[in-house]
Amino acid sequence: MEEQDTIVQQTYPMPASSTTTTTTTTTEQLLDNGQGVIDPEVYFNMNKPPANLGEFEEKLTAFVNHHQKLDNRVVFITSGGTTVPLENQTVRFIDNFSNGTRGATSAEYFLEAGYAVVFMHREFSLKPYHRHYTHNPTQDFLDYLVPKEDGSVSVDPKYASEMHKILIKYHQAKESNRLLLLDFVTLSDYLFKLHSGSRILARLQQKAIYYLAAAVSDFFIPKQKLSEHKIQSRDGAMTLTLDQVPKFLKPLVSLWASNGLIVSFKLETDVNLLVPKARRALEQYGHQVVIGNMLTTRKQTVTMIMKDKERVLSLTPEELSKNIEIESKIIPDLVNIHDHWIETGVTA
Ligand code: PMT
Repeated sequence: MEEQDTIVQQTYPMPASSTTTTTTTTTEQLLDNGQGVIDPEVYFNMNKPPANLGEFEEKLTAFVNHHQKLDNRVVFITSGGTTVPLENQTVRFIDNFSNGTRGATSAEYFLEAGYAVVFMHREFSLKPYHRHYTHNPTQDFLDYLVPKEDGSVSVDPKYASEMHKILIKYHQAKESNRLLLLDFVTLSDYLFKLHSGSRILARLQQKAIYYLAAAVSDFFIPKQKLSEHKIQSRDGAMTLTLDQVPKFLKPLVSLWASNGLIVSFKLETDVNLLVPKARRALEQYGHQVVIGNMLTTRKQTVTMIMKDKERVLSLTPEELSKNIEIESKIIPDLVNIHDHWIETGVTA
């Protein structure tokens, strides 16, 4: 109770754009339906956009215009985890679990299915095609290469044929301008770019898919409560109080991503919670598909959950032994759902 009183008395200055007035807003005014969660629009007013937001918007607008003229389908993939800084001049931060495997692998299958891909990923996480060589747990990148006496470098013949296949696909995607790589690091970065990016894609209407595979932090420290400098350890143990991040899926569905097919993910560790929580998300946000995955089996099995139906997609032991990827089943399934969505406005 004491803790709650303290929070309600907290005041927030308004954003830089409104510094000419001395308006302050109490946390109470920022609460969304008394649930203790800041309204998404208020979040954007209270936080500074990332410095490269203009460049992000420019690149994305050119990409979307290009594919709109060609009447292509476009998927906006978010991938990797967001960070939550503990200091304004950040030395320490909280991270979210995700390597970006799901997003990067899915991007390759969407490209194979003919989609143009906007790949909005955590900086230095896995990228489509590169992932086969940059994040291999048993082999480092330089071990694929052999130095030659004439000063040139070649690929070790052991890996050449596989690398050739991947390089061909990578170059096809680049030459046809069907892969746009954009990145984020912090939660704030991610939220501003999701907001802006989904509104740019909205002009594609049903032709767009929003595939939200990123692991987004549910808690953060508002800018106004952040320590400016590195928190000093001489003061002893540290207690952190984190605010709840607004649920951005709600405005994404109802305001920003007009008529696009929205696919979110639900990650759980307790199997009994997976489908009920995914269904609750569908009801709460009103979007089309939740892909449920369990932490330990996420590379072998997922559940596709829609309003009136659900189905499990799994790899057989034989498929697993051949290194078949679960995304090779998820993406064709989604393409069918998207076909139906474009034709009828409902999910298949
Ligand atoms: O990258 P890998 O290592 O392969 O791992 C992939 C994955 C397990 C991270 C991925 O498959 C996955 O499940 N991603 C979603 C992780 C998650 O926990 O999401 P969530 O329960 O925090 O959020 C559910 C959905 O709501 C997400 O699609 C998210 O984009 C969205 N969300 C979340 C928080 C927030 N404030 N606003 C949102 O809109």
